[in-house]
Amino acid sequence: MQNFEFCNPTKIVFGRGTESRVGAEAAAYSKRILLHFGGGSVRASGLLDRVKAALGAAGVAWVELGGVKPNPRLSLVHEGVRLCKKENFGLVLAVGGGSVIDSAKAIAMGAVVDHDVWDFYLGRGAPTAALPIGVVLTIPAAGSEASDGSVITNEKGALKRPASSDAIYPRFSILNPQLCFTLPPFQMACGAMDIMAHLMERYFTNVPNVRFTDRLIEATMKTIIAEAPKLQKNPKDYDAWAEFMWAGTIAHNNLLNTGRIGDWASHDIEHEISGLYDVAHGAGLAVVFPAWMKHVLSHDLDRFAQWAARVWNVELDVFDREATAREGVARMEAFHQSLGLATTLSGLGVGRDRIDEMADKCTDGDARAVGNFVKLDRAGVAAVLRLAA
Ligand code: NZQ
Ligand code: ZN
Repeated sequence: MQNFEFCNPTKIVFGRGTESRVGAEAAAYSKRILLHFGGGSVRASGLLDRVKAALGAAGVAWVELGGVKPNPRLSLVHEGVRLCKKENFGLVLAVGGGSVIDSAKAIAMGAVVDHDVWDFYLGRGAPTAALPIGVVLTIPAAGSEASDGSVITNEKGALKRPASSDAIYPRFSILNPQLCFTLPPFQMACGAMDIMAHLMERYFTNVPNVRFTDRLIEATMKTIIAEAPKLQKNPKDYDAWAEFMWAGTIAHNNLLNTGRIGDWASHDIEHEISGLYDVAHGAGLAVVFPAWMKHVLSHDLDRFAQWAARVWNVELDVFDREATAREGVARMEAFHQSLGLATTLSGLGVGRDRIDEMADKCTDGDARAVGNFVKLDRAGVAAVLRLAA
């Protein structure tokens, strides 16, 4: 196990009806806030009205900025930054999923600097400060409610890029599983896939002797595998959402990568797909991950066989660890299909014609490799995408 520091400062307020606490939580930071949300779901569900009522009761004034799209766009971030600078807000409150939260984080970083916040997403300079961020989460998936990351798409060049900083851990996140009852089955499936991906990115490591976090990651994966089918049958199953939602936060709040180094190539590759084709992040991952696994399997058959046996209940064949590993990948693909997710690029509506372009963008023209478990250059990324086709 490697040396590590772990400090996740996000306060989690979890359970039924907890969105009523948002006024008091927000007021602890500011009485003037930016209220940020997405398309229509928070209006249709009545959540936005409840949030406003709670803010009003706590004496918090707000200005609304809605309209965040999945794969959140830089242009709206710029609008939010302008508003924050003009109005001097003391908190950005995100009511929604990963896209709204990531947009709020970008606004919060941009509001305290005098250059374009996109610089941070290009790796120019490290963000050291941001306005405080609060969250009312409506979809367990991205884990952004307790992560130090934000992923934004610049419409110019269809570039989807991540930035991270300790400054953008949300100060508080309100998680009420009841808010997930209105999620369409496709979004639940995408959420399950993203959570699984955050766990697998961490699981496939070259760091030896990480047995404790292996077990934590396996338990979190098994939770998603067990709860997602229940939610397919009954989208209003509070207990299943509660397990799923908390697992989604733990999967990505950096606890599970303590002492180990994750891979993250599949995320980098997927960001090229959703940047160019505007597909849902989880749907893209359902296609990329099995292909990545087939490409890198031989790198550490013991680890893959362990994963197959412990997570997918494959009988471990000690004389043929590759067969065990491949059966694990097959069971994972069957799980994706059972959730209604495509497992090929063509199933996503993505052709082979732009594979080289995506590989080129992903590796900055072959100037950098992606992944840590196995480093992939441009040819490696293209090989994964061809396996996914
Ligand atoms: O816009 P509305 O109308 O709210 O609809 C949303 C959206 O269409 C809908 N939705 C959300 N909650 C709902 C609901 N519909 C009905 N009832 C509800 N309760 O779901 C759709 C998807 O929302 P979105 O926020 O895009 O989903 P998700 O949470 O999966 O976020 C995806 C984004 O997060 C990034 C992804 O790349 C992607 O851009 N990620 C962020 C990370 C981070 N910051 O740490 C890590 C992740 O790996 C990921 O890359
Ligand atoms: Zn993800």
